[in-house]
Amino acid sequence: MASPPTRAIPAAAAKAAAATIRIDSHLDGGEERSLADDVLDGLTRPFKELPPKHFYDARGAELFDRICELPEYYPTRTERSILEQRAVEIAEATGAVELVELGSGTAAKTRVLLDALHAAGTLKRYVPLDVTEAMVRDCARELTAEYPGLRVHGVIGDFERHLDQVPEADGPRIVAFLGGTIGNFPPGSRRRFLRQIARLLGPQDHLLMGTDLVKDPGVLEAAYDDSAGVTAEFNRNVLRVLNRELEADFDPEDFEHVALFDREHEWIEMRLRARRELTHTIRRLDLEVRFEAGEISAKFTPERLTGDLAAAGLEIATWMTDSEELFALTLSRRSDR
Ligand SMILES: C[S@@+](CC[C@H](N)C(=O)[O-])C[C@H]1O[C@@H](n2cnc3c(N)ncnc32)[C@H](O)[C@@H]1O
Repeated sequence: MASPPTRAIPAAAAKAAAATIRIDSHLDGGEERSLADDVLDGLTRPFKELPPKHFYDARGAELFDRICELPEYYPTRTERSILEQRAVEIAEATGAVELVELGSGTAAKTRVLLDALHAAGTLKRYVPLDVTEAMVRDCARELTAEYPGLRVHGVIGDFERHLDQVPEADGPRIVAFLGGTIGNFPPGSRRRFLRQIARLLGPQDHLLMGTDLVKDPGVLEAAYDDSAGVTAEFNRNVLRVLNRELEADFDPEDFEHVALFDREHEWIEMRLRARRELTHTIRRLDLEVRFEAGEISAKFTPERLTGDLAAAGLEIATWMTDSEELFALTLSRRSDR
């Protein structure tokens, strides 16, 4: 018996979506091990630290979205405004048929670039890679609806472990790494990571990277310690992740959020400082910790950025900044192309 038309329409839509969306997941339980390993490594050091990827559970991702809207948090709106001014030029200079985005999140700013590539008529595929599964799936659904003809190949994974899962390019491509996320890497692993990214680039390809610049420490510290306390809540949320995933016994309210600019290293340290002498147990790891932990967000001078890119075999083709030089977007190529 023939299906009634009301059933045929969703089936056709589902078939069309299946043809345009592909999602590969590489996390498959390994994440829990990776959290346990990172916590064991990070919280038994003299300077305790945790990799930022563990901050982005569903609540962390939602809090990060709120941070991006805060008046003190200039990076998001500044990077967006640079993109708005230069996206057409980026599309022309790269002729990109595909955009790979590392740590793609909600791809909010990415739409500015996708608009320009779509209007130029070159764009065929978008490849978002993020550790947060829901973000990759939602953004694939939304973008295929917003850009007719666009294929999305989502990669759910860790950009430090799964760059080799990024599919082969079918023409010139842009690898985008936005939001100043490169600043979360300490100097040695930053250069190693840039070298891995460089391996994704063919002679016609470009890296488009957003980098936060060194500036007045007052402006920087306010951006990481907003008056509404959203960044403090984002920072403390990692303790809830440890309680849930590793049976730890932290009370997040026992910890205060501190954001300090370290002038020597030119990075912001976001720390969680215990308000009193405390010892905690992480049951799944059989670990006791006396706790003060943090992460860094490095800020760049043009010289440092050029040096880090050069060490990875990359050279800047276009340097783009705002009128106050708060934030930079750079378009780089392989220097041996
Ligand atoms: C600071 S947000 C930036 C989001 C977006 N690109 C922007 O510019 O607004 C970092 C994003 O990277 C993702 N992320 C962090 N560490 C990651 C990792 N190791 N592998 C993959 N994604 C990661 C987070 O889930 C989050 O979506």
